[in-house]
Amino acid sequence: MAKSVDIEKEITELRNEIRYHEHRYYVLDDPEISDPAFDKLMRRLQDLESRHPDLITPDSPTQRVGGQPAEQFAKVRHSAPMLSLDNTYSVDELRDFDRRVRELSGRSEVPYVAELKLDGLSMALTYENGVFTRGLTRGDGTTGEDVTANVKTIRSVPLRIDSKNLAGVGLPAKFEVRGEVILGHKAFQAANAQREAAGEPLFANPRNAAAGAIRQLDPKLVAERKLDIFVYYLLVNGRPPLDKHWQILEALGELGFKVNPYRVLAKNFEDLLSYIQKMESQRDRLEYEIDGVVVKVNEIALWDELGKTAKSPRWAIAYKYPAHQETTVVNDIRPQVGRTGTLTPVADLEPVSLGGVTVSHATLHNMDEIERLGVKIGDTVLIQRAGEVIPQVLKVTRHAPDGREFRMPKHCPVCGGDVIRVEGEVAYRCVNAACPAQLKESLLHFAARHAMNINGLGEALVDQLVDKKMVHDVADLYALAGEQLANLERMGEKSAQNVLDEIEKSKKAELARVVFALGIRFVGERTAQLLTRHFGSIDKLAQATPEELYEVEEIGPKVAQSIVEFFRETRNRDVMEKLRRAGLKFEQKTHRADGRLSGKQFVLTGTLPTYSRDEAARLIEEAGGRVTASVSKKTDYVVAGAEPGSKLAKARSLGIETIDEAGLNKLIGK
Ligand code: IVH
Repeated sequence: MAKSVDIEKEITELRNEIRYHEHRYYVLDDPEISDPAFDKLMRRLQDLESRHPDLITPDSPTQRVGGQPAEQFAKVRHSAPMLSLDNTYSVDELRDFDRRVRELSGRSEVPYVAELKLDGLSMALTYENGVFTRGLTRGDGTTGEDVTANVKTIRSVPLRIDSKNLAGVGLPAKFEVRGEVILGHKAFQAANAQREAAGEPLFANPRNAAAGAIRQLDPKLVAERKLDIFVYYLLVNGRPPLDKHWQILEALGELGFKVNPYRVLAKNFEDLLSYIQKMESQRDRLEYEIDGVVVKVNEIALWDELGKTAKSPRWAIAYKYPAHQETTVVNDIRPQVGRTGTLTPVADLEPVSLGGVTVSHATLHNMDEIERLGVKIGDTVLIQRAGEVIPQVLKVTRHAPDGREFRMPKHCPVCGGDVIRVEGEVAYRCVNAACPAQLKESLLHFAARHAMNINGLGEALVDQLVDKKMVHDVADLYALAGEQLANLERMGEKSAQNVLDEIEKSKKAELARVVFALGIRFVGERTAQLLTRHFGSIDKLAQATPEELYEVEEIGPKVAQSIVEFFRETRNRDVMEKLRRAGLKFEQKTHRADGRLSGKQFVLTGTLPTYSRDEAARLIEEAGGRVTASVSKKTDYVVAGAEPGSKLAKARSLGIETIDEAGLNKLIGK
């Protein structure tokens, strides 16, 4: 046992190291180490803290997601009102603002800072002793809601500020930072995809999704949303502590906060205009939504002179870009087959210009969304475009008297395969694994690095293979001949041979890779590993009933159902046979029949003092035992750690032996 001083030292060092890498990754967007290397540091810290809970501090990087769901949020008064901004919609209005500022201040020219107007929700962050202690929503501007636990889950919010950095900008240890909590386009799409799968109504825009997330009562759910923050305001004792707003933004960056890089110090009005124009043209390429530009007087002494109106300061103003919204007519609605076979209803629109881009399609997501919108073919709709994503239909503005209803077809429009709706899901899917629309994506997935890792089988080659009907399923890859490939565009004999070598090499891939490569819906890399560990062969997996699949740790009914569906499909079974004949690995020894735990079933619950769940499962399996998800009469041992769940109670009620980590070590002879 190491001395406790050593452990304290290691914990402190680990925390600093993790903070440094969090800053590189989440604030600077410039990581220095790989994700697994980062996870390893985090696990080490978690491990030390779980063995020494007295050393856990609220600003530890492990404490971002924690605690119990809140009952409700406390109302707290702001240290200084959170003002809003007046809006302008034209250059003339902006010119009026500049004139008023110059007149009131008596200056002939006033320098401004221009920033992006981020479309999120404003948040006030309090730091005491350099540690993040409170996050408040804007509320009515005077009083906000305490959402501290939720704000902690935002990885770009530093939980503690280095005292060296505080000294560097001459800041006391108690201060307040304000900024905008946002949800990037990617995270927004992921949030909506999740809601779609759960059959819940979709968020209209990232701001609503971010606001919804921040008001979640359970921080664990907030953490899943991947919120982000950009800060733009600093207060010490209710006042900005520096002379210039530009300096404030720079200081915030030095303190470790995320400050938006698109900002300018404009010497005069002309500079402002060119920034506004430049950002409007780049607007669609940003990873998050903006709705304009905020213009602020740089000199803070002028802020006091200019003062404020009832709700907004006279030293700042928002210049709003036109919303990328327009009304148009739905000419048709048709299903589009995506890569997993999902049929997405897409609206064919009367073309309209939206922020300089002609739009002729919009996604309707799924049948529930069509029903919610009440949209029919012929209706006039309001559409919106954000970033580079496909436009959305926001609402019907006029129903056509003879509007035609859209119905999902019973057969795939591309291959004629059966279209089914999985129970409990909103999506309709074509179940045919050989559907050409899906085939290209399946091939790319099959060849991907974490799947069969076939180098050189990229989009250009896949397109040709499918279009020229050289492959009809993933197994056909193993029947390709050199001269066939060499005749393709951008291929020579040499590169053809390289691809063939790669394909040959892939036959040796581990079983878990094969399972992942099949592209079974909901079966990602990790699930594939768990399935492989449990079943040990594709045949056993293919024959498993939903109940047997459900027994595997981390596998829920949705995944189980999807696996059963996959292997029920004749075409998929045919592909399996071809892959088997090609010589792919279909089996892997999992349980050692001669191990000391062979034939024994285990269930894990709670946190073990030293082993992670995966480590414990691996040790059991190496000794020939099996780990299942739930306690049943077949269970031999329940291994219980700290904060065990209901599994322990069930084990006791069934009279099943429960052991702790030491007991497990004894069983495996460690
Ligand atoms: S400054 C008194 N800067 O816009 C200064 N606000 O319409 C008030 N916003 O409530 C805020 N980006 O939530 C400022 N770069 C930015 C901003 C920004 C977005 C939001 C903020 C504010 C609202 C006012």
